[in-house]
This record gives sequence, C-alpha cells and structure tokens, in this order.
Amino acid sequence: MKLAFWKKEGEPAGQVDFSRLPRHIAIILDGNGRWAQKRGLPRTAGHKVGAEAFRTIATYCRDIGIDYLTVYAFSTENWKRPEEEVGTIMSLLKRYLLEAIDTMERDNVRLRFMGDMGPLNEELRGLVDECNAISDRLTGCQCCICINYGGRDEIVHAARKFAMDCTAGTVKPEQLTEESFDGYLYSAGIPSPELLIRPGGEQRLSNFLLWQCAYAEFYFTDVLWPDFTKAELHRAIAAYQRRNRRFGAV
Ligand code: FPP
Repeated sequence: MKLAFWKKEGEPAGQVDFSRLPRHIAIILDGNGRWAQKRGLPRTAGHKVGAEAFRTIATYCRDIGIDYLTVYAFSTENWKRPEEEVGTIMSLLKRYLLEAIDTMERDNVRLRFMGDMGPLNEELRGLVDECNAISDRLTGCQCCICINYGGRDEIVHAARKFAMDCTAGTVKPEQLTEESFDGYLYSAGIPSPELLIRPGGEQRLSNFLLWQCAYAEFYFTDVLWPDFTKAELHRAIAAYQRRNRRFGAV
C-alpha cells in the first residue's frame, strides 16, 4: 500500500491511501478572479494561472490513476461576465484543446466535454468534435471539461430527449428508471463522482452536476484555484478517505 504523508500548520497530519482512490473526482475551478485581484492584476491573469493549475492537477490525476476528472470551467451563467473575460476564458480553452489534440493519443488521455456546445464559436466547436473523435479511439483516463454547463439545463435537456423518444414510440414513460435517465445526461456512461472539490471558500454547488453528486462527498477549501497544488489534492482525497460513506444504510 502506497501512502503519502503531510502536515500543514493547524491541521492534523493525514495520509492518502493510493490503493483506495476515488474513481471520479469533480472540481469547481473557483477563485481565479480573487487570486488576481489580491495581486493587483486583471481577473484574466487569474484565469491564465488557473488554466496552468488545471494542467498540473489533470496530469497528476492521470499519473496516480484517477479514472475520471470533471471540471467546471464555464457555466451557463458565466456569459454574464465582461466580454474581455469571456474572451480570455474561451482562448485559454482553445489553447488547451489544441495542445490536447497533439498529445492525448501519446498520453492515452481522453478529453470530453459536457454542456451545450451550441453557443460556442465554430472554431471551438470544431476542436471539441476533434477531441471527442480522438477520445473515441482511446481507453485511458478521462478528463471532462464542462463548458456552457448548468446542472438544471442538463436535466431539462435529458428530460426533453426522453420525451422525444416517448413521442417517437421507442420507449414508454413508465419504463424510465434512474439508470435509464442517466443515459440521457451529458455524463452518460460516466460513473458519478465520489468526491467533489470546491476551492475558493464558497460552500455551494452552483448548479454543477446536480444529478451526479447525489452521493458525492464534498470537500471545501479556502485555497483559491490558482494556488491549488498536488498537496491540496492529497488533502482532499485524504479527507474523502476518512469519511464513512453509508448511502442511506446504517
Ligand atoms: C471561476 O473563478 C473560474 C472561471 C469562471 C473560469 C475557469 C476557467 C479557466 C481556469 C480557464 C480555462 C480552463 C481550462 C480547463 C483549460 P472566478 O473568476 O469566479 O473567481 P472569483 O470567484 O474569485 O471571482
């Protein structure tokens, strides 16, 4: 059994048992704007460093054997931000996708997307399609970036698709189960996250993976996303491993 130890001031020493990792970790990338403002920088500088932190954490998750990593990069509500900020986030996503297209086959990392891709510009949509096509040929760790994603929006989309199948006569309303509804979601085929991490000090879901997080363990930290390190990830995983998951049983 491989263990990693650390001690942070004010916190008990902890350890990660690498033979008992969560299979799926979800992260809300929060705190980029405040990180930048604290340094007298424009908010966009925080997103740039946040994108680097994502690279580091995604690579590390792959290295330690996390099967699925899902991150909330842009919500359906984030379009309300200033145009320049939205533009920066979109160009960071574009750069990441271009890099991924060059490296995912070599690294055997699948890159998927959740959300309504309709409002994205044509170039970004093309890159998303390209990443999806490459991922279809791969088997490795799956990294999923949520763009123009909203949990309620996802559920409404799924309900609409199911209703259309009912109208087409391929399924009957009474046949719907939790399992079959799962197949209508953007996350079809992906196991639910066991651990949801939210850096940035807020303690809410903000419309992220509402259906999928029914039994997730939540880990909140004041650390801002650009400052999130492998040690922070260890801390989150160790906290998860100390929890007693009962799923409604005793
Ligand atoms: C939330 O922090 C962060 C976002 C809305 C954008 C996240 C996007 C990236 C890190 C860039 C690209 C992502 C990838 C995956 C390559 P905030 O701005 O709401 O922070 P605040 O609460 O401090 O204002």
